[in-house]
Amino acid sequence: MSTQHPTLSPTSTPTSAPTRPPIVAVIGAYGHTAAFVLGELRRRGGFGLLLVGRDAARLDAVARAHPGAEARVADLADPAALDRALAGAAVVVNCAGPFAVTAPLVIDAALRARIPYLDVAAEQAAVLAAFEQYGDPAREAGVAVVPAMAFYGGLGDLLAGAAKGDWEEADEITVAIALDSWLPTEGTRKTGQSNAGKHVVFKGGRFVPPPAEPTPSVWEFPGALGEQKVVEFMTADQVTISRHVRVPDIRVLINEAPLRDLRDPGTPPPTAVDADGRSAQTFVVDVVVRRGDEERRATASGQDIYAVTAPLVVEAAARILDGRATKAGAVAPADLFDAADFLRALDPEHLTFSPSTSS
Ligand SMILES: NC(=O)c1ccc[n+]([C@@H]2O[C@H](COP(=O)([O-])OP(=O)(O)OC[C@H]3O[C@@H](n4cnc5c(N)ncnc54)[C@H](OP(=O)(O)O)[C@@H]3O)[C@@H](O)[C@H]2O)c1
Repeated sequence: MSTQHPTLSPTSTPTSAPTRPPIVAVIGAYGHTAAFVLGELRRRGGFGLLLVGRDAARLDAVARAHPGAEARVADLADPAALDRALAGAAVVVNCAGPFAVTAPLVIDAALRARIPYLDVAAEQAAVLAAFEQYGDPAREAGVAVVPAMAFYGGLGDLLAGAAKGDWEEADEITVAIALDSWLPTEGTRKTGQSNAGKHVVFKGGRFVPPPAEPTPSVWEFPGALGEQKVVEFMTADQVTISRHVRVPDIRVLINEAPLRDLRDPGTPPPTAVDADGRSAQTFVVDVVVRRGDEERRATASGQDIYAVTAPLVVEAAARILDGRATKAGAVAPADLFDAADFLRALDPEHLTFSPSTSS
């Protein structure tokens, strides 16, 4: 990250006082995904950490693991408490889901404080509401509101942006996701329950209810996952991509193994298998943008969809804070950032990115 230097007038005296690092407030700081976000902020360095949550004991336990971090207890539904909790923050990263509940409360607070807002929502309705309700207020406040800056919603959108390159419109975009398994966290389970019945697909240029019976198809994924039976999957990618690409049809497909895991109430939560706390889960996201007979493709693969969310949202926060992303308003990742450059920055440490190929 580049250091911001104060502008000196000809008469001012240079000072050697160190610049204070920008403070990143993490909401829901003792959650599973937040742990990866805090770890990634620490690993990169150059940030102050502000931990926000509603349970003082759990917040303290996390603060002890991050020396120098400040912990502030707040009920998100109490605007004054939330404003006090965010005082001094340069950006807020909301990791507390279901986001249908938390996003409006935290975005309102971010706009009152005039600081950028990012979250890791996968819920279509919450992400759509963030775009539709907060575009104008965010522009007026001069800050970016970036929902779904995560595996679902963010990675597929960045890959679509990288694949399409200079095309401003396309006939169809397909985001094909393959996971070897999905061990869901408590937050994923709760979000799935609160999100039931609110799903949409993007067809003919608008959001419509999904078909009652999904039609399976087959997708050839690169690498070990190979050919997989896939079905349409309703996630935030349809929403983020539709915000900035003129395209009538956006399909998100997923293979069957993770859906079987998710449907089974006995599937356990993820367990760490490496020093970074990642589970053994592997993923491939393969995005194809079609215009007429031409196709452009970009692919990413890696380990653990919760863990990879951290470098995605932290890279986004860093690029907003250091001035590489300057748009105000409610913005999709690939609309705010140079998508290919963003993904290259995460390769090879956090994922493997195969940039656009044409056929
Ligand atoms: N888009 C993606 O790819 C992606 C990736 C990762 C995670 N996610 C989403 O992120 C969310 C969190 O997932 P997770 O795995 O980190 O779950 P988790 O481990 O259960 O953590 C959830 C956190 O949110 C807090 N929280 C929930 N509701 C709250 C409320 N109303 N007020 C204050 N705090 C609240 C929880 O605190 P309490 O325990 O006090 O409730 C906890 O700290 C889920 O919605 C999940 O779908 C999405």
